[in-house]
Amino acid sequence: MSAADSDSMLVFATSDKGGTGRSVTSCNIAYRLCLRGLDVAYVDFDFGSPTAGALFEIGQAERGITEGHGLHSYLLGNIGEPKRLTVSGETDRPQLRRNPPGAGELVLIPGDLGGAEFGCDDAMVQRGARLLAKLLSEFAVVMVDLSAGRSVALEIALRATASTMLNHRPHRWLVFHRWTHQHVLAAGGLVHGPHGLITTGAHFGHDEDALLASTRCVRTAVAASDWTRTVDRPPQAAWLKEQANALRELAMANGIGAAMVLGQTPIEPMLQWREQLILDADVNARLANLATVEAYTDLARRLTDSATWDIE
Ligand SMILES: Nc1ncnc2c1ncn2[C@@H]1O[C@H](COP(=O)(O)OP(=O)(O)OP(=O)(O)O)[C@@H](O)[C@H]1O
Ligand SMILES: [Mg+2]
Repeated sequence: MSAADSDSMLVFATSDKGGTGRSVTSCNIAYRLCLRGLDVAYVDFDFGSPTAGALFEIGQAERGITEGHGLHSYLLGNIGEPKRLTVSGETDRPQLRRNPPGAGELVLIPGDLGGAEFGCDDAMVQRGARLLAKLLSEFAVVMVDLSAGRSVALEIALRATASTMLNHRPHRWLVFHRWTHQHVLAAGGLVHGPHGLITTGAHFGHDEDALLASTRCVRTAVAASDWTRTVDRPPQAAWLKEQANALRELAMANGIGAAMVLGQTPIEPMLQWREQLILDADVNARLANLATVEAYTDLARRLTDSATWDIE
């Protein structure tokens, strides 16, 4: 499905902390959406570390694109359009070089090689909004990987989506976090805390309730709660169960309990060694776990299912 229309959707991938699995999970969701026939743009708004090319194994853009053709140059007003890289055309991974029948196109909009964080001004927000509006007219899903924390990328995203160019378009906010005590506190703070998503969004003109209704959490690399493995160590099993319950309560108390969760991913051995797309071929070759692909497929389905979003 090439033409995006009023149904096309902006998805912002955020996290309070770095290293949460935000990029790896987002790119795998993007890939699963493509397999369902949707054209997807993956936009690297991680300005301080523009390495999205590595996820798609695009050697020429592993750390951003050369010669000032990337998002940094575009947002700073140096070029009229940032460069686009079609994953199937540019990847070094042979299995990704042909799209399966019926699949959509996956396109990366990379940052600049050596690009760094910058300050945010009105012109930059305008350029960001113009780019996202244009991508929305061409792609069914525009997935924007934001820098971690309360970053300039988050500010541009919130201001752009509050602007007249985008405020009538569907936008979703995914907050990625590990399933640990510290990450739950951090993610709860990013959603509900001072200078978090909702208060900052409201400051820039968003409706708080609508923004909250557009926000879901994704728990990444969640350890299996398979207590049978600890059968010979009852104290350990008891401790693990206690922690699991405490975490669930902590998430609830921090406003990111079950109702706020889009889904979760299991620990995937391949991803512990390498950031990449997990292909069906990896499962068939018994390199990756089926549960990992199922988790990404489920996240992609829930993301695009209107029943998930009690908004419009
Ligand atoms: N389900 C998983 N199982 C095991 N490891 C995972 C899983 N998901 C992600 N990882 C690994 O966790 C690490 C961090 O993931 P990733 O780079 O996507 O996080 P990030 O939040 O985008 O980080 P940054 O803030 O640096 O951009 C990577 O090495 C990645 O391969
Ligand atoms: Mg990342």
